[in-house]
Amino acid sequence: MAKEILKTHDTIFASRPELAAGKYTSYYYSDMTWAPYGAYWRQARKIYLTEIFSPKRLDSFEYIRVEEGQTLISGLFPLSGKPVLLKDHLPRFTLRTISRLVMSDKYYSSHASSIITLETLQQMLDEWFILGGVINIGDWIPWLSWFDLQGYVKQMKTLGKNFKEFFKYVIEDHKAIKTQIEEDYVPKDMVDTLLHLADDPNLEVKLTSDRLMGLMHDLISGGTDTSAATIEWAFQELLRRPNIMDKAHQELDRAIGKERWVEEEDFSKLPYIDAIIKETFRLHPLCALLPPHYSIEDCNVAGYDIPKGTIVYVNAWSLGRNPKYWDRAEEFIPERFIENNIDIKGQNFALLPFGSGRRRCPGYNLGMKVVRTTMANLLHGFNWKLAGDMRPEDISMEEIYGLTTHPKKPISVIMEPRLPFHLY
Ligand code: HEM
Repeated sequence: MAKEILKTHDTIFASRPELAAGKYTSYYYSDMTWAPYGAYWRQARKIYLTEIFSPKRLDSFEYIRVEEGQTLISGLFPLSGKPVLLKDHLPRFTLRTISRLVMSDKYYSSHASSIITLETLQQMLDEWFILGGVINIGDWIPWLSWFDLQGYVKQMKTLGKNFKEFFKYVIEDHKAIKTQIEEDYVPKDMVDTLLHLADDPNLEVKLTSDRLMGLMHDLISGGTDTSAATIEWAFQELLRRPNIMDKAHQELDRAIGKERWVEEEDFSKLPYIDAIIKETFRLHPLCALLPPHYSIEDCNVAGYDIPKGTIVYVNAWSLGRNPKYWDRAEEFIPERFIENNIDIKGQNFALLPFGSGRRRCPGYNLGMKVVRTTMANLLHGFNWKLAGDMRPEDISMEEIYGLTTHPKKPISVIMEPRLPFHLY
């Protein structure tokens, strides 16, 4: 069924429904995530793939990912031997990384242009993900929408307004700098690139201020929660199975040695860690339900007549755990991904962590770079154990749902350095 929706009838289901979340928190569907299928969405996808996430552009920002990765590790090092909650560190790290790539860090650092704290930006994003996944009664029973019975629309409007103020400031500041240094101007971050494109008279669809804000929003939200929660899930699983963690450490010692950190180009030497990440995606796809798809024509799917205007949710979580496709489906077994090339980019319809078809995630390459190196270096740099008297079998795998899925009961861990101290 997923294949019918996302491949056979991909064009018909490539739109999104007009839900309140997209209207109020994404500037009337001006981001790519909530945009209906059409000229603007096509243009946005092209901009992402050719300008923002081109291999050359991503390589040019590698130094930011390396610096922020180092900041994460050196922030954890002094906490060695003390109980740590990964969720207190990972989302902050991915937010710092992606926001430096998108707009520089001056808006939340001690710089004079600072207008927000990283904590506030984080809270706003957390709220965006939760509100993006709620069942808002007014979306399903339109005549009730006016009453906003659950109060979600009020929250969405406030959140949308707060984001708008912040993004407006960032755009105006970037524009002012561009005007000051007109002749020697070189785009330094993704907002610069978007502003440069906005001046292009040949664009099919004009990049209005709402659309610029929408695209910034896609980048910041897409790049933060997804990578952080994937890594958190991976460690929840590894702490339940110390033998898998040992095998990962052995691979790192063999392939990298103990005198340096893992770099992005090392990844082909780490197939076991790659398998751990894929197995994490299988059991814990970040979007348990893919964001809603919406049919723009009548069609017939697997013998059912589906009218135009139908909202469809694809359940990536249950596909990943379906015993029809996966042997010992509920167990965490990275070995199932060794020496076979099981696709995770949307060609295998039993494994859809990035979706599939036209709407599949455009940020795959960046997301994987961050997840792989961060996972590998957290494993390489530390020995891990559970804090207090918690036992591996006590770890809860319950989930909290929003647009993305997180561990409900994050675990407290003790980390001990395993590389020479001068590296931290
Ligand atoms: C581990 C990392 C990531 C995972 C697991 C992930 C997962 C997904 C999934 C499941 C979708 C929905 C596909 C569908 O609707 O069928 C999606 C869409 C999207 N992702 Fe990602 N993503 C990741 C990283 C990123 C990054 C780093 C960015 C940008 C910086 C990004 C930006 C987007 C955008 C803009 C969309 C909307 C695409 C559309 O509606 O056309 N993602 N992602």
